[in-house]
Amino acid sequence: MTSAARKAARGLVRDFGEVERLQVSLKGPANFVSAADRRDEEVLRAELTKARPGYGFLGEEGGRHEGSDKTHMWIVDPLDGTTNFLHGIPQFAISIALQRDDTIVAGVVYNPANDELYTAERGKGAFLNDRRLRVAARLRLAEAVVACALPHHGRGDLVQFRKELSLIQEKVAGLRRFGAAALDLAYVAAGRFDAYWERDLSPWDMAAGLLLVREAGGFVTDLDGNDAMFATGDIVAGSETMHREVLALLKSAQTLA
Ligand code: IPD
Ligand code: CA
Ligand code: CA
Repeated sequence: MTSAARKAARGLVRDFGEVERLQVSLKGPANFVSAADRRDEEVLRAELTKARPGYGFLGEEGGRHEGSDKTHMWIVDPLDGTTNFLHGIPQFAISIALQRDDTIVAGVVYNPANDELYTAERGKGAFLNDRRLRVAARLRLAEAVVACALPHHGRGDLVQFRKELSLIQEKVAGLRRFGAAALDLAYVAAGRFDAYWERDLSPWDMAAGLLLVREAGGFVTDLDGNDAMFATGDIVAGSETMHREVLALLKSAQTLA
């Protein structure tokens, strides 16, 4: 998984250089980026399939391909943080997860822009490059930095989000919207963010990242506190305490008029 990520990243880094150049053209880099995204997924699919020929593959760009081995499935986002990438902002990643039956057993999130490689294997811990990760130990919301999404033009429930924000914003030390879900989760695993929540995600946005958080000793659920993140698209992640605190605030936001 890591060598597939590194191989695909070489093309992504080249394309990122081109994107930075295209910012100044009137046409902009949009078409170029969607082609880069698809190419990147093809490289990942070829590499992963070469290593494990029978496994199924679910990718954001190419959809679902069943394999002869029905118990294993790769879940891949070839470029998470597309808007950042498109704007020349170096906060994007390749995300690869391996699902066995219904459980994520391995995950890789790689940001080639700063060479941060996050890896986790079920029961074996989470790592940033060679360093073992632990979620943050902070116990007070007043000290917590929490990541979230920002519903924007044509996406998400703005009214719902404003209710959540009205409760959470005044209680925490800082809010962040970095724009790459896989990295938001990796940062929770690394103890940089104390918690993170987002709605309307897809499995490839969170599959690898949620294992990173759990293997770093953190908690991940949907907004009802259950394990149905893929079915609902909703996710709350954090250290045990911060996950509990943020989940409780999100639940009380649902009752606000
Ligand atoms: C997006 C990013 C972003 C999140 C969006 C995702 P993409 O993935 O993870 O942070 O807020 O909901 O769709 O489109 O850049 O792969
Ligand atoms: Ca994504
Ligand atoms: Ca993507």
